[in-house]
Amino acid sequence: MDRWKIVTRLFLAWLLTATVWTVAASAQERVNESLGTDLARFYASETARDASLPSLSVTGELPPASALPDAWSLRPVFSRVQGRAAVSVDITEGTSLYGTGEVAGPLLRNETRAVAWNYDAYGWGGNDMSLYQSHPWVLAVRPDGTSFGVLADTPNRCLIDLRGGIRFESSGPEFPVYIVTGEDPAAVLKGLAKLIGTMPLPPLWSLGYHQCRYSYTPDDRVREVAGTFRDKNIPCDVIWLDIDYMNGNRSFTFHPADFPDPRGLMQELHADGFHTVAIIDPGIKEEVGYHVYDSGEAINAWVQTSSGAPYRGNVWPGRCVFPDFTVAEVRQWWGGLYGQFLTLGVDGIWNDMNEPAIFNTPTKTMPLSNLHRADDELGGPGNHARYHNVYGMLMARATWEGVRAARPNKRPFVLSRANHLGGQQWAACWTGDNTANWKHVDWSISMTLNLGLSGQPLVGPDIGGFVGAGSDEMFARWMGIGALLPFARGHTGKGNIDKEPWSFGGKVEDTSRRALERRYRLLPYFYTLMREAAETGMPPARPAFFAEPANPELRAVDHQFLLGQDLMVVANVHESGAGDPFVAPVGTWSEVRLLAEEKVDPDLPRLYLRGGAILPLGPVVQHTGEISLDELELIVSLDSNGRAEGLLYEDEGDGYGYENGEYRLTRFVATLEGDEVQVAAEIVGGHWKAPVRQLSVRVLNSNVASHN
Ligand code: NOJ
Repeated sequence: MDRWKIVTRLFLAWLLTATVWTVAASAQERVNESLGTDLARFYASETARDASLPSLSVTGELPPASALPDAWSLRPVFSRVQGRAAVSVDITEGTSLYGTGEVAGPLLRNETRAVAWNYDAYGWGGNDMSLYQSHPWVLAVRPDGTSFGVLADTPNRCLIDLRGGIRFESSGPEFPVYIVTGEDPAAVLKGLAKLIGTMPLPPLWSLGYHQCRYSYTPDDRVREVAGTFRDKNIPCDVIWLDIDYMNGNRSFTFHPADFPDPRGLMQELHADGFHTVAIIDPGIKEEVGYHVYDSGEAINAWVQTSSGAPYRGNVWPGRCVFPDFTVAEVRQWWGGLYGQFLTLGVDGIWNDMNEPAIFNTPTKTMPLSNLHRADDELGGPGNHARYHNVYGMLMARATWEGVRAARPNKRPFVLSRANHLGGQQWAACWTGDNTANWKHVDWSISMTLNLGLSGQPLVGPDIGGFVGAGSDEMFARWMGIGALLPFARGHTGKGNIDKEPWSFGGKVEDTSRRALERRYRLLPYFYTLMREAAETGMPPARPAFFAEPANPELRAVDHQFLLGQDLMVVANVHESGAGDPFVAPVGTWSEVRLLAEEKVDPDLPRLYLRGGAILPLGPVVQHTGEISLDELELIVSLDSNGRAEGLLYEDEGDGYGYENGEYRLTRFVATLEGDEVQVAAEIVGGHWKAPVRQLSVRVLNSNVASHN
């Protein structure tokens, strides 16, 4: 048969199948529901709606559904493809696509594919379709800046195909689709937050710099690293304990010889202004006599095989069993384990390996036929195919709830490697085991942005790279960029070279110090932005195009990003050191320096303040415990009308007093009056009284004198 005949036959076969799908899909009518002017929900059919299981992502309270007005134009097309449930939404030419969670590569996602499937992707690269987290959500920005988002409400493995439009294809049952519309991308993100919630305000210390490695051990090494930060005057808030602090990798234990006095160690670290975060993995060594195994066994806590026996798989401690976090009783037991653990003085928890990662299986996770005895509110008992993508999220939830219950007057800080759409309610995110190469330096920005566009505000990479050594220059650059991302943590793998800020010699140490001093000066702003994230879902780090959504020049820009709506960070992500130009959005953007005698340094991103904005800056401090805003600097960038405005949120930095009004939200307004800039401060939220403090004002784009 010649080539054309084969092609024709294939085409006919395809046509036939396509016709069958269409018939199948149109046999039952799609259900269209309005949930407000900017939100609609769709089901493939009434049967699909009636059979749909509770959502594991959409936890927000929704209004009662009503009929969808005819004017609503975005209507998904449901179909079945080889037994899989599929749905597609058309896009018009010039529509830019983003989101899809934790994905490697550029910010702009048109013409890409990803598979929402939590996967232990050690050493991942640009061709990996599945990383550690799953976010079946796409943000679409039309040429005029108006936007919409499509949420495929399924926890099952799901292909997100953005070649030519938006298409989801899930190996699970039919699933509902939510479409959020908005006048701009920010409005859509706020709409998403109403569906999936927001991250509660984290403690202030978690916005400082974090130092990690696999692993600082024994305890004297921890002291040495912490002490070196203070000796060298390099700001740092948190020291992390990776698995070697444990006794034989058993979660909730300390190694008796290497960490004989954890309580004493934590006290010393606290006295020096450090917090600690300790890793806790879900794989529990199957060992009678180990308190976690015994107490879990007593409540039959483990995920089961299809025949109902506890499932066993190998991870760091050897043969392990795995808590079934889909059961409330198990989450409560797990959360309760933190009570004792936290009395040692540990401040935050790092949940790792919770895809869950299993070493001795070809799939790197447990069999899909494994059984979860899930509570009805999650959908009832089901196999691992349904619950795989939410295993990490439910672990993080159990952790968050346990930590909160153990220390009700402090805000939990949890970091989780695996997570799912909606999981920002319980954990922050880092982008897993990246590699020390220039592509990864670049992707640190785009991945953080796309996660932010998928509901997760507190994100950052392993600064310096987990796998591989990298170069001095690369480390300095990574620190310059990483210090300006929401979650800033240096980390590297076992056996890798040292990657503390001083490990690459004096020049890199100086750059790192300045990078972190810049971050600490910005903390009042970062904190104000995290509060906004907690209230509205707007991520602190936003793509440059948010400043002008209809400007096509900005759509693919990802060497620069916005912090809030006012500060544009322009990074240099090329090895050569030749930076990309600043692509300026509409308005005036004035370069701003944060440190006294700050020199132009290709390793430190340039910063531009939007005309019309006021940026509040704190002092350079060594850790957040030292912050006092008795002296506050305001940087004013006037707009063309000689006006600027900025917000500052302040509270105790931890605890829940803010829920009862123990905070202060101040609006600063600057106006050019004659040849003077007048700055007025007005308290617009909270019960905290007006402070007595020294305000200094720097006006960027005016040659008029500043006014204190
Ligand atoms: C895998 C994590 O991704 C990595 O960050 C950690 O250091 C190792 N597990 C050891 O706990």
